Amino acid sequence: MRRRLVCGNWKMNGTEEESAALAASLLPLLAPLGDRLEIALAPPFTSLRTVGEKIQGSRIQLAAQDLHPASHGAFTGEISGRMLTALHVRYVIVGHSERRRLFRETNEEIGRKAAGAAAAGLVPILCVGEDEAERLDGRTLGVIEEQLLAGIARLPSTGGDTLVVAYEPVWAIGTGRTATPDQAIEAHRAIRSCLARRAGEDAAASIRILYGGSVTPETATAMLSRPDIDGALVGGASLVAESFAAITRAAAS
Ligand code: 13P
Repeated sequence: MRRRLVCGNWKMNGTEEESAALAASLLPLLAPLGDRLEIALAPPFTSLRTVGEKIQGSRIQLAAQDLHPASHGAFTGEISGRMLTALHVRYVIVGHSERRRLFRETNEEIGRKAAGAAAAGLVPILCVGEDEAERLDGRTLGVIEEQLLAGIARLPSTGGDTLVVAYEPVWAIGTGRTATPDQAIEAHRAIRSCLARRAGEDAAASIRILYGGSVTPETATAMLSRPDIDGALVGGASLVAESFAAITRAAAS
């Protein structure tokens, strides 16, 4: 049985002080849900320590939004997996569509980031998803599969404790246009069958596949009541404590 996961991706929002305030208001809302599912918060790098301190002792996990594949070296401005594990980070988002699109990250580079995360003892949350033109062209499943295979290509093992996949259709991110549950399920099934071909049925059955893209308290129940959807990666709505808590409650029930 896969344990559901809801992760809030705060993106580039919040000073350290603002992040601390958000974490403090989330804590009492999320704490009662911690035995029913897994919850993770992905604040900006500069807030990781503070948010980590706030959630210490709770069952909420810390996540980062990106990393550099190498453990250390002359990479000005970058953050390594080793630096993240030292801050008690458990998950790290790799291949977010904003990184792919705005920072020109390639499938190959994302595969190296996932491997760098694994080498540091982190669990990558590998994001895949088609853009609108690719969907209209009927290329959705092909694009997802290509991103997925490149993303996991260098991982030493793929199983439930070592990898999370997030299906995030680019056209649904920050647009208010959530995919329908049926669209998400089609993608999630394709991802799981691709994982099964690559890593075997048992490993594939243990990997959590999250949906992300305009998840709100209003859309969460329809999406998260479906067994193929193992949780959510939440952007905008994760910045409002009551909204993120409502989404998490929907995933827990
Ligand atoms: P929104 O929930 O704001 O659409 O963002 C989704 C996302 O990119 C999560 O990683």
